[in-house]
Amino acid sequence: MCGIVAYVGSKHCQNILIEGIKRLEYRGYDSSGLATLHNGKLIITRAVGRVASLEDKLEAMGGQPGTVGLVHTRWATHGGVTEFNAHPHRDDRVGIAVVHNGIIENYAALKTLLEEKGHKFSSQTDTEVLAMLIGELYEGDLESAVQAALREVTGAYAIAVICEREPETLVVARKGSPLMVGVGNGEYVVASDGAAIISHTSQAIMLDDYNVVKITPKGFRTSTIHNVPVTHKIHQLELELEEIELGAFSHFMQKEIFEQPKALRNTFRGRFNSDEGRVILGGLADHAKELVKTKRVVLLGQGTALHAAMIGRYLFEDLAKIPSTSEFASEFRYRNPIIEENTVAIAVSQSGETADTLAALVEAKDRGAVTMGVINVVGSTMARETDAGVYLRVGPEIGVASTKAFVGQVAVLTMMALWLGRRRFMGANDCGDLLRQLNTIPDKMEQILSLDAQVKQITERYVERENWLFLGRGYNYPTAMEGALKLKEISYIHAEGMPAAEMKHGPIALINEGMPAVFIANRGKQYEKVMSNIQEVRARGGHVIAIATEGDNEIKHYAEDVMYIPDIPECLSPLLAVVPMQMMAYHAAVLRGHDVDKPRNLAKSVTVE
Ligand code: AGP
Ligand code: GLU
Repeated sequence: MCGIVAYVGSKHCQNILIEGIKRLEYRGYDSSGLATLHNGKLIITRAVGRVASLEDKLEAMGGQPGTVGLVHTRWATHGGVTEFNAHPHRDDRVGIAVVHNGIIENYAALKTLLEEKGHKFSSQTDTEVLAMLIGELYEGDLESAVQAALREVTGAYAIAVICEREPETLVVARKGSPLMVGVGNGEYVVASDGAAIISHTSQAIMLDDYNVVKITPKGFRTSTIHNVPVTHKIHQLELELEEIELGAFSHFMQKEIFEQPKALRNTFRGRFNSDEGRVILGGLADHAKELVKTKRVVLLGQGTALHAAMIGRYLFEDLAKIPSTSEFASEFRYRNPIIEENTVAIAVSQSGETADTLAALVEAKDRGAVTMGVINVVGSTMARETDAGVYLRVGPEIGVASTKAFVGQVAVLTMMALWLGRRRFMGANDCGDLLRQLNTIPDKMEQILSLDAQVKQITERYVERENWLFLGRGYNYPTAMEGALKLKEISYIHAEGMPAAEMKHGPIALINEGMPAVFIANRGKQYEKVMSNIQEVRARGGHVIAIATEGDNEIKHYAEDVMYIPDIPECLSPLLAVVPMQMMAYHAAVLRGHDVDKPRNLAKSVTVE
């Protein structure tokens, strides 16, 4: 939901912090601020808007000295987007500065108590309450004060804290929001994710919930909020700098759309042998005996990840013959879900940190489900929470609108369904045939990407229209939902995705002259039905934009525009059908002059409820 970077070492840290936070700005970008300690004094600079505004302020003041500091980009939850609400927040007594990712749920009660003790607040945020509470509890030791304060709060947090009275100390902690400590040579870089650390060190420890870490240039100590010592293994960050840099592209989303073929080749690498009709998923091997007895699969996710989960539901039913459901994680966690014996719960998530998906996963686990993850970020909270799982291996996804992670999730779910299907009833030949087809997807994707100019032209014709429909059937009903979400979240055009058959039950009333209706009309079991739905839209003046199978000349008579995708078995078609819609959404956002990678109101990882 926001980005945190903090530094302890011997270097002047302003530029280290600013370069780091710019790499995390996709996580939240309402405002930003930086605090350093210099000559025992806190210096804090804050600015509304992008990090560039903060940089301008720092330049105007001639820079900010200090070798211990912290910086934050905010995604507002409590209090408007103002400079007063920007982080870092400080207390009013001992010179403590705090940056925070998450929500302090009991902040109001704590604020009342602190006001009764005479503390004066200057912001509307929950985070300022935490800063005041740490100041109130400070008795000469910052680590103890932070531990004591965190024992009082409920909610989610990743925090970094410094104090004028301990000029070489940084204390960090987490519960529910990610935080890691990069271990350098006599210096430490703390960050919300590895993108801000990798240029300094590839060695990092991942904080677990209720961890508190005290860091000085001489070393670090990890404990719990109850001061129980904790040991951590050092992770090797697998990021490469060029993976998190724009290169020749105009936006990260564009880069990530075009690197999908390469990303999928990485997802597939070493994970199947089509000649033997075998899928090799190391992350499931230890639980194979349990997983083969699976009686039901529950797939959990939000947003794009939920759309992948919805496709997973079709895959597990079709390829593994296992009853399956996909659920809004946010709904599942608060229902009273029935989890029978031999139920597998699969959390689908790019970040591995989405609060609702994590909570739903824990709920399913507590009720006895075997849990698996389909996750991109290695070492993320969900990856550590699940019994087993398969990483996407698509590389860091920076664009807020998810693209390569979506195809990675669908590809992994396809392999999981085949892995299970082969252990139940599917023969080697059938599995081998599908795997050979799966292996053609990256090349076929490249064919579609070469149509970018045509897709842009089509988008130009409709980009001013304010309401779109996205329609598909079977495997491509969730794909249509994903196409609608892509357009919504970066072009701000209202779009709705639904099963094509559902249109007749109400939404068809929306159709008016010239309304764009995107149909996923590739060759498949329900092609004729989709054609009927296309006729229903045309009869009411709607403009049909069809995604069709190469060689289908029939559809040209019924659609204003056609974007062709190569022929592929229906169960694999979402991997191709989604690409033209990703490209359309991208062009629509650019044509409308929006910030493609940082769309308004959004953040890359929703670590709050
Ligand atoms: C996708 O384009 C959105 N940015 C959003 O819906 C995202 O898919 C959702 O928040 C889930 O995130 P996750 O995959 O990191 O769990
Ligand atoms: N809840 C805090 C605020 O609204 C932090 C939000 C965030 O994670 O950026 O300032």
